[in-house]
Amino acid sequence: MTLTEAIDIRRSRRKYLAGPIEETDVKKLQKLIDEFNIIGDIRMEFVHHNGNAFGGLRKSYGLFSGVQNYVMLIADKSDMTVIERLGYYGELLLLNAVAMGFGTCWVGGSFDRKLCPVQLFGNELIICTITIGYAAGQLGTREKFIHGITHRRKIHSWNYTPKNQIHRRYDECRSRNSSCA
Ligand SMILES: Cc1cc2nc3c(=O)[nH]c(=O)nc-3n(C[C@H](O)[C@H](O)[C@H](O)COP(=O)(O)O)c2cc1C
Repeated sequence: MTLTEAIDIRRSRRKYLAGPIEETDVKKLQKLIDEFNIIGDIRMEFVHHNGNAFGGLRKSYGLFSGVQNYVMLIADKSDMTVIERLGYYGELLLLNAVAMGFGTCWVGGSFDRKLCPVQLFGNELIICTITIGYAAGQLGTREKFIHGITHRRKIHSWNYTPKNQIHRRYDECRSRNSSCA
């Protein structure tokens, strides 16, 4: 599966099957994380087989179940340029995970930062996490509900292709200006 195909099939998944993920996949994900950390000059840390931060109702509000693996995106909270790079490489990692067959979700709020197994330095903060795991079949009722309230319509990746943008700009130009060829 290409990353563009991964964009189209990706849905946030919040219910995961218990149990560890395959060691070969752990290695693949770790390799990508190491690579992105170097080229992006960022700090992403992989936690696998430890779902404590998502376990209790206190912080996950019962939105997630079965989370055992996630990536912590860490930065000095005042450094917006790093946060932007984390967003870019985080999404790249997430799409690679989707292309590998995993369910994923960006999680910035509904987890317990104090239970994340990491040492932070200086002004570092866990800005966000990305859960990764074997999603439990089709979207469940709770997942469908959350998806429904957070979406107005589905936008496909082809809406962003240069060709489409040119057509859209051409249409806009024509509707504004009748001398447009
Ligand atoms: C930066 C960021 C932080 C997010 N934090 C949370 C969160 O704390 N809890 C949660 O349930 N979903 C979180 N989400 C997931 C969004 O709620 C999700 O993307 C939204 O439901 C849209 O659904 P979709 O990803 O299936 O398109 C976050 C998404 C982003 C981009």
